[in-house]
Amino acid sequence: MGCRLPDSDPTAPAASSAAALELTVVVPTFNERANVRKLIRLVEATLGQTRWQVIFVDDDSPDGTAAEVKAVAAVDPRVQCLHRVGRRGLAGAVIEGIMASAAPFVAVMDGDLQHDETLLPAMLDALRTGGADLAVGSRYCGGPDADASALGARREAGSRLANWLGRQVLKADLSDPMSGFFMVRRSAVEVVAPRLSTSGFKVLFDIVASQDRPLKIVELPYTFRAREAGDSKLDNGVVVQYLGLLVAKLSKDVISPRFLMFAMVGASGVVVHLAILRSLLDIGFSWAQTLAAIGAMTSNYLINNAVTYRDRRLRGLKLISGYIKFCVLCSVPLAANVAVATVVFERGPAWWVAGLAGAVVAAAWNYVTTSKAVW
Ligand code: GDD
Ligand code: MN
Repeated sequence: MGCRLPDSDPTAPAASSAAALELTVVVPTFNERANVRKLIRLVEATLGQTRWQVIFVDDDSPDGTAAEVKAVAAVDPRVQCLHRVGRRGLAGAVIEGIMASAAPFVAVMDGDLQHDETLLPAMLDALRTGGADLAVGSRYCGGPDADASALGARREAGSRLANWLGRQVLKADLSDPMSGFFMVRRSAVEVVAPRLSTSGFKVLFDIVASQDRPLKIVELPYTFRAREAGDSKLDNGVVVQYLGLLVAKLSKDVISPRFLMFAMVGASGVVVHLAILRSLLDIGFSWAQTLAAIGAMTSNYLINNAVTYRDRRLRGLKLISGYIKFCVLCSVPLAANVAVATVVFERGPAWWVAGLAGAVVAAAWNYVTTSKAVW
């Protein structure tokens, strides 16, 4: 009796091709605990015999979304949780989810049930048999039931404006480039992945804008549902970030969204500075310039914290210690600022020319040092 060699060829694939995964549904979540099980049931009901999996990408939601997903994942191998810690951001979460997939096709869908999952089979069909690279669930492509009534009127107008701007940059015929609901050939994302921005909400826009060769795109109308549980995380900061992404893509990635944002905040600081300077001129130019610089510094700090560095936003005690660091760093050029401005002022030009001269000297120093030391 000798020992028997195993029947199976050790070089053969571990799984048979009959079970090959066809579709990964990537669901970014932040505080969506109450929606997890329902979403999985709906996906299961609509995808039927398709070989699918769903990967929830959760940024360590305080409501315990990840634990809820893992409770299901423990008994259902089609469900997975990518539990990220120390990071926040919808775009980054979506990209990581896509990169974790081994399926040829990947769908991205919100975790709050606002996207109509019954569109998934039609999207898959467009990619599988229609030869499309990308199928986009569109709120605006004219179907009778495509409307945005689940958004408020102001949000809808803003959304349409953002779409219009996006189309001008993309030069692709997309009626809803801001859509968070789409299905794409995984390879089309992998080739551009190193170039994608991980902040903001506009990952579809970024994927399309970053391609060297245009994608074959189809749009399918759907109705954006109202949210049942939890809150929207889209706020004004997200909108500003999107504008930064537009400029970055227009400049072929030469101007980074973060740099642009810092410059815009700086410009707002100049306005604050000049307003304070003007209103305090009576107390003497040097004093007025000093207080104006402090006012601008404080407003720059708060806006940068809320917008430019929103993914690393400081809160509570850290907000205060960050402010102290920011002030110390900004005080280094403050002396230079006041000196330059006072010299210019004494040579005679208008008060605002003098104020501006001082502010510009300080700005360059501030950008370089605070981006490294504070956030
Ligand atoms: N992992 C992770 N990290 N998920 C996040 C984050 C984050 O920082 N922020 C939001 N999400 C998740 C939410 O939990 C939800 O599942 C999904 O991303 C969309 O977030 P919402 O906060 O519900 O966005 P919305 O409904 O306001 O915006 C949706 O519609 C927009 C068009 O108006 C999204 O689909 C946007 O992508 C879309 O542009
Ligand atoms: Mn939503």
